[in-house]
Amino acid sequence: MWGGRFAEGPSAVMREINASIPFDKRLWRQDIAGSQAHVAMLGKQGIVSSEDAQAISEGLDAVASDFEADGVPVDYALEDIHMVTENALSEKIGEAAGRLHTARSRNDQVATDFRLWTRDAIDEASAGLKALQTALLARAEEHADSVMPGFTHLQSAQPVTLGHHLMAYYEMFARDRARLADARARLNLCPLGAAALAGTGFPIDREATASALGFDGPTRNSLDSVSDRDFAIEYLTAAVQASLHLSRLAEEFVIWASQPFGFVSLSDQWSTGSSIMPQKRNPDAAELVRGHAGRIMGCMTSLMVSMKGLPLAYSKDMQDDKPPVFEAHDLLGLCIAAMTGMVESASFRTDRMRGLAESGFATATDLADWLVREAGVPFRQAHHITGRAVARAEADGVRLDQLPLEALREVDDRIDQRVYDVLSVDASVASRMSFGGTAPSRVREAIAAARKTLEEE
Ligand code: ARG
Repeated sequence: MWGGRFAEGPSAVMREINASIPFDKRLWRQDIAGSQAHVAMLGKQGIVSSEDAQAISEGLDAVASDFEADGVPVDYALEDIHMVTENALSEKIGEAAGRLHTARSRNDQVATDFRLWTRDAIDEASAGLKALQTALLARAEEHADSVMPGFTHLQSAQPVTLGHHLMAYYEMFARDRARLADARARLNLCPLGAAALAGTGFPIDREATASALGFDGPTRNSLDSVSDRDFAIEYLTAAVQASLHLSRLAEEFVIWASQPFGFVSLSDQWSTGSSIMPQKRNPDAAELVRGHAGRIMGCMTSLMVSMKGLPLAYSKDMQDDKPPVFEAHDLLGLCIAAMTGMVESASFRTDRMRGLAESGFATATDLADWLVREAGVPFRQAHHITGRAVARAEADGVRLDQLPLEALREVDDRIDQRVYDVLSVDASVASRMSFGGTAPSRVREAIAAARKTLEEE
């Protein structure tokens, strides 16, 4: 394709290091779509004859059917998907194939293909996360009243509901999807027509190719168009952030599935056994979601490091942009699907959750708040009094609400019988009525609002 000025061919290692076809064959659909838009425009502008444009277009369709049926041939000599496609086209239609590359370079071609591919990756990730949000909503609704211990420092803090806890992840994934949408909006300009770096002297119509490919318009600077990959980096940063959220949810499943917690039992479909310990039900999928987040972060780092020192415009280092993006996409898709499956099928052991919420003095803040409200005690003092009540309950080996009134009054005689109304975990969660709080009625409101948001998308 470029051998005119060379007397000798490249060495075998040169061919191998130069070839991106082993991985960029994944761009074949985008490459064909880009070429179809380009040739239609060339024909319309009279840059190639309408007969040639038609022959090329039909030839591209035939090449696409071959690739669909037999896969993309991997030939190092042809370097990349752009050359492989053009070569296949010339085998189909002969000399006219050579007119396709008029007013185009592989530099704007690959930038276009990769934007198209990344746009689909964004849409796929967003759809997957939406399915996960839907699963979280369903489980949250089921457990809007199920009391569990809320933790800080992984120490029992205040009772919350499982529904509220699950809805926290709904919010995180909503932000991840907003980040993806934001990246998509900035990505959606078409570099085709920037040619090698300087634009072209042919009378091309960049608006036409951009709109044929579903872009909002053409990119504005030819050098920038072929030399930046920030759209891919933005996708990766959004993917990393989503994977961090997935990893935290996965980590909670690992903890919750452990025997000391026993908050959840994963379904058989999402558990694995041990080859030596017959009793085991391991949360491998959750652990791998946690692990894969590290790999996705590695993909982001890899592309950032590739790009950080490159002068304008195109450098071949940029060919290395694709493996990390492909890998991140594949890993993220798996992680989202696995977490969705786990959320949908987990059995939550609400008895265990309630038991632990009741045993951890989680309503201590409610006692302090009661002293403030009913006895006019300043909060700092109420905190201290409550601390003494907890110490007393701990010494007696009982829960706070099991301490007899005499014992509470020995701690502070302003306490009376009414305090028992606030010491149960149910009373505690029901009282957290502030906007965004864990009261079951608030959680139901949040679920209804979320459902409406998803439906209206
Ligand atoms: N395979 C190349 C890539 O992925 C395509 C662009 C090659 N351009 C060039 N001037 N060698 O980036």
